[in-house]
Amino acid sequence: MYILGTKEEVNSNLQILRNNNKTIGLVPTMGALHQGHLELVKIAKQYSDIVVVSIFVNPTQFNNQEDFEKYPKTLDKDLEILNNSEVNYLFLPDTEDIYPSKPLLSIDFGHLDKILEGSFRPGHFNGVGIVVSKLLNIVKPHIAYFGQKDLQQVAIIKRLVQDLSFDVQINVVPTVREEDGMALSSRNLRLDPESRKAARIISKALFFAKSELLLGRPWLSIRKMVNQMFESEPIAKLEYFELITSDTFYVLESIGEEKSVSICAAAYFSDVRLIDNVSIFD
Ligand code: PAF
Repeated sequence: MYILGTKEEVNSNLQILRNNNKTIGLVPTMGALHQGHLELVKIAKQYSDIVVVSIFVNPTQFNNQEDFEKYPKTLDKDLEILNNSEVNYLFLPDTEDIYPSKPLLSIDFGHLDKILEGSFRPGHFNGVGIVVSKLLNIVKPHIAYFGQKDLQQVAIIKRLVQDLSFDVQINVVPTVREEDGMALSSRNLRLDPESRKAARIISKALFFAKSELLLGRPWLSIRKMVNQMFESEPIAKLEYFELITSDTFYVLESIGEEKSVSICAAAYFSDVRLIDNVSIFD
């Protein structure tokens, strides 16, 4: 695996490959790599000749400075993981390379960034939109891969690509879970053993709610039961638990005629905030 530190290095290495009709897949990450990232790499390798992983902890998508500072950074381990994978290039830029100056641009995603993650983390999707645009412009991949765990981010990025006519296909890869159902996330590294044990309540509540919904129980009654589950777990603080349309993120009170519906949740365990979601019909 080759490490590329600057836009210029990316350009000179990848242009030759593009000229030789090689397809390029990009897996953007913020490091602290886990099996979920490796799943993105595995799928990328199936669909692209060349796989580029980027690691950049993007300051502009953190609405909270402490969260940015505490974001897990495990570069040595990440390099070891990537060296043992099928990744061809790692793009490891400095902050100055990505942000030579503070962006003046701000992106308004309309309704999509006003609810759930958008409303609890103001400015977060603006930062995601800017950095993803930059990565797409620098790497110019044919396909970019994102995890389904960040479902609202996926919806935002699909709209970004559509509205700005980026010449890239967005592939979404299913969430990888631990044996107890807990979704893999870099932030899990910040959980102490007690919080980790408590945190399985998120996936438990999501899968419980999904099966009750499919059995025909009304959503409002399910949500009441989920609130009670969370109230009985002292470490957990539920932030939201919503039934939504998966692509457009409209909040629903029943499944109705919708074809693509998900339940999204966010909760704190001590000071660690986790998100997860399940799709209802697959
Ligand atoms: O999902 C992430 O890790 C980040 O939001 C991303 C897409 C790499 C942008 O910084």
